[in-house]
Amino acid sequence: EKGGYDHFMLKEIFEQPECLTNCMRGRINVEANHVTLSALIDYRLQLLKAKRIVIVACGTSWHAGLIGKQLIESFCRIPCEVEYASEFRYRNPVVTSDDVVIAISQSGETADTLAAIQLAKEKGAFIYGICNAIGSSIPRATDTGTYIHVGPEIGVASTKAFTGQVTVLTMFALALADAKGTINRDEYLKVVKELNRVPEIIKEVLKSNEKVRDLARTFTYAHNFLYLGRGYSYPVALEGALKLKEISYIHAEGYPAAEMKHGPIALIDSDMPVVVIATHNAMYEKVLSNIQEIKARQGRVIALVSKGDNTISRIADEVIELPDVLECLEPLVATIPLQLLAYHVAVCKGKNVDQPRNLAKSVTVE
Ligand code: M6R
Repeated sequence: EKGGYDHFMLKEIFEQPECLTNCMRGRINVEANHVTLSALIDYRLQLLKAKRIVIVACGTSWHAGLIGKQLIESFCRIPCEVEYASEFRYRNPVVTSDDVVIAISQSGETADTLAAIQLAKEKGAFIYGICNAIGSSIPRATDTGTYIHVGPEIGVASTKAFTGQVTVLTMFALALADAKGTINRDEYLKVVKELNRVPEIIKEVLKSNEKVRDLARTFTYAHNFLYLGRGYSYPVALEGALKLKEISYIHAEGYPAAEMKHGPIALIDSDMPVVVIATHNAMYEKVLSNIQEIKARQGRVIALVSKGDNTISRIADEVIELPDVLECLEPLVATIPLQLLAYHVAVCKGKNVDQPRNLAKSVTVE
């Protein structure tokens, strides 16, 4: 059942190229370079009239939502908020019939997310689900939605569901932006084309598995980890930290890199590994100076860099190279080594990777 892998989690990490191909099948037309989601055809008017989008989710699905927000705001120019379902449901939020609420859930059974949907529905919002488990409670409670189609996820730590959710959010933002006319034609075509190439790019990144395994061994001593990223990579940092904490029981925090100097920098010493997503993008120079600040305080830097970067390679303790990809698609690529890192650290520590203590695959109680 584990397809020759030692754990479901590793199998699910390695399955991602195939899963994302399934997720895009019939939705991205390669010849025409076009994205079609049936929900956007059937509910075009409800979606076009949205004055605001509110994403509700928990855990990893909430991280996917943070990436969705950036995609939706940048392509569709609709204000978008991301809420923890558990907070949203209990604070009498302002929701009106001008809102579209997107609920993201792998299991489709998360109690808080389901309750958030019910609340938003009562207030007149249109509800869109992004789920994996077919026919589960959340898709049944929504007005429409899109399944991520990545197949059953068994490992408690979410991996392929995360990349599936981000893929659907990317397609959603592209299709809605196209319908609204808020995206430039060339940009639309460029992103669609590159999204379609992501499974191949992930295959390339998975080749770093052994390298990540070797470096994981040298970091199992750590009691704390910091993960830093900016822009599209900030939610990836949060997700990397969550993966590490849930399966290896090492305390880890994700931060937007620029926030480091507002507090977490005080934690840095030679026992503190810092994972930095430092690829060639708009924020490169700024992230590079964060790395210099960490090194000046003897922190240990594990950097995710663009292939061929020889500036950061000279300063960082460990470097993982990533192929170039459009910035808005980077989360799909940069998250892979972080999944592998968490996995290998947990294995080195002899932890139960697929069923970490105190955690359940679906959280059906609040
Ligand atoms: O099934 P859901 O996507 O609604 O689950 C939400 C969280 O419970 C889930 O993502 C959790 O954080 C994972 N164990 C993270 O790996």
